[in-house]
Amino acid sequence: DIKGFVFDLDGVITDTAQFHTKAWSKLAQQLGVEWSDELQNGLKGLSRMDSLELILTTGGKENDYSATEKEKLATQKNDLYLQFVKTITPADIFPGIKEFLDELNQQGYLMSIASASKNAPTVLSKLELTDYFEHVVDPNTLTKGKPDPEIFIKAAEIIGLKPEQCIGLEDATAGISGINAANEVSLGVGSPAILTEADMVFEDTKEITLANIKAKMNS
Ligand code: G6P
Ligand code: MG
Repeated sequence: DIKGFVFDLDGVITDTAQFHTKAWSKLAQQLGVEWSDELQNGLKGLSRMDSLELILTTGGKENDYSATEKEKLATQKNDLYLQFVKTITPADIFPGIKEFLDELNQQGYLMSIASASKNAPTVLSKLELTDYFEHVVDPNTLTKGKPDPEIFIKAAEIIGLKPEQCIGLEDATAGISGINAANEVSLGVGSPAILTEADMVFEDTKEITLANIKAKMNS
C-alpha cells in the first residue's frame, strides 16, 4: 500500500526548472557550447557539477578547465539562478499542487523532498511550503546523483517508509529512472513523449489528485 509521496522540487512544485535552464544556457553560450532541447532535458535533475560536466562534454570541452575554474563557473551559474529565485512568491506554486499537498496531509500520507538542489530549502521558503516538508534529503549526503536511486531511497527512509510504499514525482527523465530503480511508483510531470519510462504521467499539475492517481494505478 502507498503511504508516502517523494517529491522532486524544480519543475514539479514550481517552475524553477526554467530558471536553471536560463542560467545554464547563458553559461553554455559563454563557453561556446551549442544549446539544444536534448541538452536541456538531459540537464534536468542533475546536480550542479554533473550539469556543468554534461555541458562541457557536449561541447567537447571536458578537458579545458581545471577543478578551480569549474567551481567558479558553477558559482557563476548559481549566482544568476539565485537572482531569479529572489523573485519567487507563493503565487508561483504550480496550479493544484498546494491543494494536492493539503489532500495528502488530510489523508495522513507522509511526504518528503528528493531534490538534487542545494537551494531547495530557499525555494521552499519563498513558496511558503517549508511547513509541508519537514523532511528534505540533504544533497550533500549523497554519494551519487540522479539517475542513481540513492536520493529516492533516502527520501523514503527519512519518512520511515520502504521505497515500495512510495510514489515519486519527477519532471526529469534522470529522476524517473532513479525512482524506478528505487522500486517506487514513478509519476511523471510533463510530456509523455519525453517521460516514457514513467508508470504514469500528468501533463498538467492541476490533474494530480489522489483520485486520478488511484485511477491510473488501477488501469
Ligand atoms: C535540480 C534541478 C537541476 C539542478 C540541480 C542542482 O535537480 O532539476 O536543474 O541543476 O537541482 O541545483 P543547485 O540549486 O544545487 O545548483
Ligand atoms: Mg526537477
